Amino acid sequence: MTRRTLLRSATALGAGLLAACTSPRAREDTPTPAHVQTDRSPAAPQGDVYGANIYNTQQVADELRYIEQNIQPLTGNDPKRILITGSTAGVGQLAAAYFLRRGHTVVAHARNAQREADIRRDLPALEAVVVGDLLNLQQTRALTEQINALGTFDVIIHNAGEYGLPNQDILNANSLSPYLLTALVDAPHEQMMYLSSDLHLSGDLKLDELRSGGTNVTYDDSKLHLATLATGLARRRPELRVNAVAPGWVPTLMGVHNGPHAPTTSARAT
Ligand SMILES: NC(=O)c1ccc[n+]([C@@H]2O[C@H](COP(=O)([O-])OP(=O)(O)OC[C@H]3O[C@@H](n4cnc5c(N)ncnc54)[C@H](OP(=O)(O)O)[C@@H]3O)[C@@H](O)[C@H]2O)c1
Repeated sequence: MTRRTLLRSATALGAGLLAACTSPRAREDTPTPAHVQTDRSPAAPQGDVYGANIYNTQQVADELRYIEQNIQPLTGNDPKRILITGSTAGVGQLAAAYFLRRGHTVVAHARNAQREADIRRDLPALEAVVVGDLLNLQQTRALTEQINALGTFDVIIHNAGEYGLPNQDILNANSLSPYLLTALVDAPHEQMMYLSSDLHLSGDLKLDELRSGGTNVTYDDSKLHLATLATGLARRRPELRVNAVAPGWVPTLMGVHNGPHAPTTSARAT
């Protein structure tokens, strides 16, 4: 069931499904389980492909191995060129691995050189890796130039997201960076996708706050921003398929921040 849950999260990105909102609420106060190491420093043992307990949960690492060993290329496939932000761990890495095995071309995105090295080791079939920390808007702008230099994509997936950081950081990484990437990167030929969350339902757009230079944007607010951005883009670019996706409660490192029962609950949800 866990495998199905994770794989569905990866494939939902490709299928463009707006997943049902099934996650439990009010998770930010839940402490990180003791067995999960949250330090994503370069201390990752080099032999530990897929970074279990370092930058991925064991469930994600297991799923990545499953994809590697069992997913076959589609025959008669029309291969797509796909960019996924935040593809060094979790849902983004699963989606990248899945698309690669299906025969698509994938460009990954990492926050820094260490994580670039990690993802190049984990997924050697990647076409390229672009690098930039979305917490830093200067780096996001530089990232847009790296992406445009690679040429136009068929599909762009705005997957990267932070959780549990100060609101200024959430604003930069989850709201402003996807907005900048949307505005400054050449539009894809076919599809643009944003990883939102069912928690957008308790978010507030806080437009007055933002217009006055405020930074009090919560995770829930940021996910409402993404859903709104997707809606606005769909209206401006009717030729593009635009989706906002709520993946459900997925047992990634971000997911287990929300409590140790994520896999069970997530599996039940499917
Ligand atoms: N897991 C859930 O239950 C859940 C539920 C609803 C929505 N979502 C959304 O789904 C998306 C993927 O989440 P996940 O569960 O896969 O989380 P995850 O395992 O923590 O992975 C997040 C990915 O985004 C990258 N990233 C985060 N902040 C970044 C930054 N400042 N600059 C560059 N890259 C950054 C991470 O890089 P590093 O590897 O370097 O950290 C990682 O590759 C997020 O947008 C999240 O909000 C998740």
